[in-house]
Amino acid sequence: MSIRQWITPLRGIDSLHQTEAPMPSLGAGEVLVEIRAVSLNYRDVEVTKGEYKHHKSADQDTTIVPCSDMCGVVIQIGSGVSQWAVGDRVLSTFLPEHQTGQVTEKELAGSIGLPLNGVLSTHRVFPAHGLVKAPSYLSDEEACTLPIAAVTAWMSINGMRPMGESGGKNEYILLQGTGGVAISGLQIAKAAGAKVIITSSSDAKLDQAKQLGADHTINYRTTPGWEAEVMQYTNNHGADIILETGGAQTLRKSFDCIAFGGLIDCIGYVSGKVDAEDDRLNVNILALRRTVTLKGIINGPKDRFEEMIRFYEAHQIHPVVNQVFSFADAQKAFQFVDSGSHFGKVVIKIQ
Ligand SMILES: NC(=O)c1ccc[n+]([C@@H]2O[C@H](COP(=O)([O-])OP(=O)(O)OC[C@H]3O[C@@H](n4cnc5c(N)ncnc54)[C@H](OP(=O)(O)O)[C@@H]3O)[C@@H](O)[C@H]2O)c1
Repeated sequence: MSIRQWITPLRGIDSLHQTEAPMPSLGAGEVLVEIRAVSLNYRDVEVTKGEYKHHKSADQDTTIVPCSDMCGVVIQIGSGVSQWAVGDRVLSTFLPEHQTGQVTEKELAGSIGLPLNGVLSTHRVFPAHGLVKAPSYLSDEEACTLPIAAVTAWMSINGMRPMGESGGKNEYILLQGTGGVAISGLQIAKAAGAKVIITSSSDAKLDQAKQLGADHTINYRTTPGWEAEVMQYTNNHGADIILETGGAQTLRKSFDCIAFGGLIDCIGYVSGKVDAEDDRLNVNILALRRTVTLKGIINGPKDRFEEMIRFYEAHQIHPVVNQVFSFADAQKAFQFVDSGSHFGKVVIKIQ
């Protein structure tokens, strides 16, 4: 019996193509999963274009199955596996070896969807410890969006301090854009009782964000000085937590609208990876000026993923799935994410 999968030689979205491969065989401690739905992340587009180069572990001279986030059903279990049974619905973890605590370089070297083969496939073998139970109240399409976007937002808001104490109620959380991480952040922040400010290039997307509970919206195209508006809206307090997904063109502005003692989570770089020559940051001065914590984020460990799922269940949060593509249309799904037209998450239904 064979499986179907998409592979990429990392030479652009056009180089993605479908192939067949033999059904993988199971080793001890592993499970075979029939994949139902896969969600796309910004990273998957970058990987496919050969542009994901900032981790040492990412070998660019290879052909891989892309994508890391899936929801599927266990159809076979290897020897020594006691935590899963045939029929269990499971979610992948981005770093299957990152079970708890601080991520290490070794765990990072085991990233799914580069350098390891990913999940854009009808079937895949996983280490039993690298999966979590899918929440039963979510559809396959909703649940498959959780591993990267939601866990990253969860760790950004709640990673350094427990929710319910200082994280949450009455704090201002600033989100940049309306992609997967930002919209997950919006849903988590609102469920935690925080006040949310969100930016976007699109007024229509800002309206959608308002419907999800955003307290204040700013169009970063028509209001390029959005950091001043954040200060004004918060009565000169600033944002207590900023999910910095923008990078080069946003970090300087984030330093100008962070609250004293605030947290800037360095997550991504959708506006670029290299600062403009005349906009080089003096991070030392900027950080001490308002006693800021600058925290690099790389997803989160499995135990924090499970903690997040309990929060999602308690608040009955349904992730925002903007569009679902068929397996045959996977390339179109990549192009859609690359265009930045989406709001929240984009999903490929496998079967
Ligand atoms: N560190 C981690 O663990 C981790 C995990 C996940 C993602 N990331 C990174 O975080 C970033 C976002 O990932 P994602 O998956 O959420 O991406 P995504 O779903 O593709 O979101 C892209 C969105 O970013 C917004 N954007 C583009 N330029 C912007 C700018 N100058 N200022 C503000 N927003 C801008 C756009 O929103 P509008 O259309 O509303 O303008 C766009 O739709 C990426 O760089 C990704 O690599 C890191």
